[in-house]
Amino acid sequence: MEYRKLGHSDLNVSVVTFGAWAAGGWMWGGTEPEEAVKAIQAGFDLGVTSIDTAPAYGQGLSEEIVGKAIKGIPRDKVQILTKFGLSWSGTKGQLFFHSKTNEGKPIDIYRYSGKDGIIKECEDSLRRLGTDYIDLYQIHWADPTTSVQETMEAVAQLIKEGKVRYAGVCNYDVALMQEAAKYIDLISDQVSYSMVKRDIEQELVPYLIKNNQSVLAYSPLQRGLLAGKIKPGHQFSDGDTRADLPYYSDKNIQLTNAFLEKIKPLVDDKKATLSQLVIRWTVEQPGITIALVGARNAAQAIENAKAAQITLSADEIGFINSELDKLKLEL
Ligand SMILES: NC(=O)c1ccc[n+]([C@@H]2O[C@H](COP(=O)([O-])OP(=O)(O)OC[C@H]3O[C@@H](n4cnc5c(N)ncnc54)[C@H](OP(=O)(O)O)[C@@H]3O)[C@@H](O)[C@H]2O)c1
Repeated sequence: MEYRKLGHSDLNVSVVTFGAWAAGGWMWGGTEPEEAVKAIQAGFDLGVTSIDTAPAYGQGLSEEIVGKAIKGIPRDKVQILTKFGLSWSGTKGQLFFHSKTNEGKPIDIYRYSGKDGIIKECEDSLRRLGTDYIDLYQIHWADPTTSVQETMEAVAQLIKEGKVRYAGVCNYDVALMQEAAKYIDLISDQVSYSMVKRDIEQELVPYLIKNNQSVLAYSPLQRGLLAGKIKPGHQFSDGDTRADLPYYSDKNIQLTNAFLEKIKPLVDDKKATLSQLVIRWTVEQPGITIALVGARNAAQAIENAKAAQITLSADEIGFINSELDKLKLEL
């Protein structure tokens, strides 16, 4: 495994970090908690020491699964990245979207990052994770009803109290990063980034590089699409929201798979898999510090962890990028 420091901090994290959204099942058509625990542990055995989760993932279930998986591992050997600011109980903040729990119960998701919410959420996360501190605490989505100042001062208080080591954010643009910088030292921004979703390269990445802050790339496999296994007409299970994403239209699946065919010889050459090459490419891009990669089971987690062993030369990256330039998805 390869490890990198987040931004200007001394928080050392694995370049392949386990993403525990699907582990919680919510919006992924359910989960097998035992499989999810084994996946995290299999990754850890190969050096995936960092895990990204959130209270919203399975409404607490993902954090509980992470807590179970890391029980017995010395606390300073794992890095826990979690979040706050998406609430499924109560109506404070701004309604984000309607959803359903894994059991099919309707819930409303609110963006809420008021001080009271954050302090309570942190206690709940610590309990579910079975720990007394969080390595990186991140706002999940900006809450337009609360000032950035109030939110960041609450996180700063948690750092002072020793419950949180470092502050990060998710889904922040440059303007929000600049506003937050007035109140707290942020080390990272967690954003959506993959071979087929590169919009952050224009403005956000140059800003973060300049400010010595890290990008944590989420959904680097475009939620499984770039593993090359999805064929047109694919039937997702009930509650798997991928079914509604434009990336998963038959046309876009076809176009993506045609691109993956083009890079397959390089994959074979390296005795790697498509997923591994895609993950390695991701963490080779300027400003991208780590990739958060989800896995349903131990086999996927092991495959993904081994992406860290692959090397890509500048010429090989150039070849992949030239093929990507020709790929025009209909989004
Ligand atoms: N902050 C945010 O707003 C935000 C948003 C999204 C994600 N994230 C974070 O980023 C993490 C990763 O993103 P993600 O889970 O959305 O997407 P991802 O990592 O691109 O894709 C993960 C999914 O791809 C499939 N997969 C993984 N490895 C595979 C392999 N080797 N072979 C075949 N299929 C494989 C699995 O689903 P199937 O087997 O079911 O296909 C898995 O659940 C999340 O878990 C979460 O921690 C954060």
